[in-house]
Amino acid sequence: MAKPKRETRIMKMPSLSLIAAMDNSGLIGADGKLPWVHISADMSRFRRLTVRKTILMGRKTHKSIGHALKQRHNIVVSSSPVYNCTGCFLVSSFLGGLQTTLALDDEVFLIGGATIYRQAFDLRLPIKMFLTLVDVDAEGDTYFPDFDRSKCRILKQRLVPKGPSTPYDLQFIDMIYDPSPRDALVKGKRHVS
Ligand SMILES: NC(=O)c1ccc[n+]([C@@H]2O[C@H](COP(=O)([O-])OP(=O)(O)OC[C@H]3O[C@@H](n4cnc5c(N)ncnc54)[C@H](OP(=O)(O)O)[C@@H]3O)[C@@H](O)[C@H]2O)c1
Repeated sequence: MAKPKRETRIMKMPSLSLIAAMDNSGLIGADGKLPWVHISADMSRFRRLTVRKTILMGRKTHKSIGHALKQRHNIVVSSSPVYNCTGCFLVSSFLGGLQTTLALDDEVFLIGGATIYRQAFDLRLPIKMFLTLVDVDAEGDTYFPDFDRSKCRILKQRLVPKGPSTPYDLQFIDMIYDPSPRDALVKGKRHVS
């Protein structure tokens, strides 16, 4: 007897870019904020990479920034339909945020926090990653998720020593994360809300 056909659907996706800064142990956040003092070299890099692009963030990251970032489409993910994020697109799920991106752009910059990075890795799709390694042992509560470093290819790496633009030594690393097999999105009827 012939097997019944399973309905499959492949979601169209924007290309994924991710930007994050972390300390020597992968720490990215402390009590809703960044775990270090202002690093202007990193802020400039963040702005240069994301300006005139579409950025997607979790509600806690939006709250810590406190406003929509200018000259960017801001997408905020929250389960609350009444979260106040003036100037942003509010979506109720991560996948909904990626779908909203498609109406605006063909690329999305995932700017955190950890819950957003984690959901991006769960897609098992290629991600262009722009990481800043901050040479400090800070204290905090939110860590960049584990990911398979053997699936990464470094494109560019630059050291920025402690100086007027940064109170810590920094490493800027651009890399491609490309897991395989790429099968995670081929599923029976995925619901996108
Ligand atoms: N160093 C860096 O590069 C960097 C970058 C970004 C953020 N941070 C830091 O990281 C910390 C925040 O990160 P976090 O992981 O705690 O929080 P987050 O990812 O910024 O936000 C989490 C919230 O996003 C919403 N959310 C996420 N996925 C969702 C989904 N699938 N469906 C519905 N809602 C969803 C939920 O909001 P609701 O609770 O409203 O439902 C959830 O509580 C802060 O300390 C921030 O300063 C650091």
